[in-house]
Amino acid sequence: MRHFNPFTRLALGLLALSCLLSACVSGPHEFQAKELERWSQEMMKSSFRDEKSVKVSILAQDASNAECSDAQSTGRVLSEERRQEIEAQNLKTVRPPQDGQYFGDFKLGEALAQDGRGLTWSDALGQANGGQCYNCHQLSAQELSYGTLGPSLLQYGKIRGITDLQSPSAKGVVEYTWAKLWNSKSFNACSAMPRYGHHGILNESQIKHLMSLLLDPRSPVNQ
Ligand code: HEC
Repeated sequence: MRHFNPFTRLALGLLALSCLLSACVSGPHEFQAKELERWSQEMMKSSFRDEKSVKVSILAQDASNAECSDAQSTGRVLSEERRQEIEAQNLKTVRPPQDGQYFGDFKLGEALAQDGRGLTWSDALGQANGGQCYNCHQLSAQELSYGTLGPSLLQYGKIRGITDLQSPSAKGVVEYTWAKLWNSKSFNACSAMPRYGHHGILNESQIKHLMSLLLDPRSPVNQ
């Protein structure tokens, strides 16, 4: 397919995929899903190229992502034991803040939660990414337009009894929340939430601002 331009290759790939779909309707479900996955991976790899911060290598999933995708596409349910192993592996990747300070500025956290910029080929290289939390979560009572893929985080800190961020009794919630933002698979093997710290989508100081947004009693989340 080397001689075709990217659009022709994409069209050919889609055509091949639809032929495969119609040819395999009577085949075993698992075989069909695996073949489809292989074809679509090949099609994606041959149809796209690196462009600024978007790299074709992103298609190569890490082991835990690959296992979750495979389970989902074949309808297989991961055993509780396997889920716990995946979570333990991901928890090991969590890096606590280097200076031991978990919090930043909740106002900057709110701006980050609203900001859906970043990770596309049209973004300038080196520009900081947004957090796009509102795409999946409710975070303040004022916001009318938010996604519902994730649970509402309204009063996240208040519900968990956080009145003083530095109090020893807040430690468990603080460490859980940091780990969730750093690598969401630490507590849910097949989480649909981006792994912000693990994949370098957000840096340490941005995660601190989001920690304040979620836990600071003065933040709009906790009103
Ligand atoms: C693509 C959707 C998506 C995005 C974007 C997203 N999340 Fe999530 N989030 C989820 C889902 C789904 C869950 C629940 C399942 C799970 O725990 O993985 C969740 C769970 C959470 C939890 C745990 C809630 C609890 O009660 O334990 C926190 C905290 C959280 N998200 C914060 C954030 C923040 C802050 C951002 C932005 C930086 C964000 N999320 C962006 C989908 C998303």
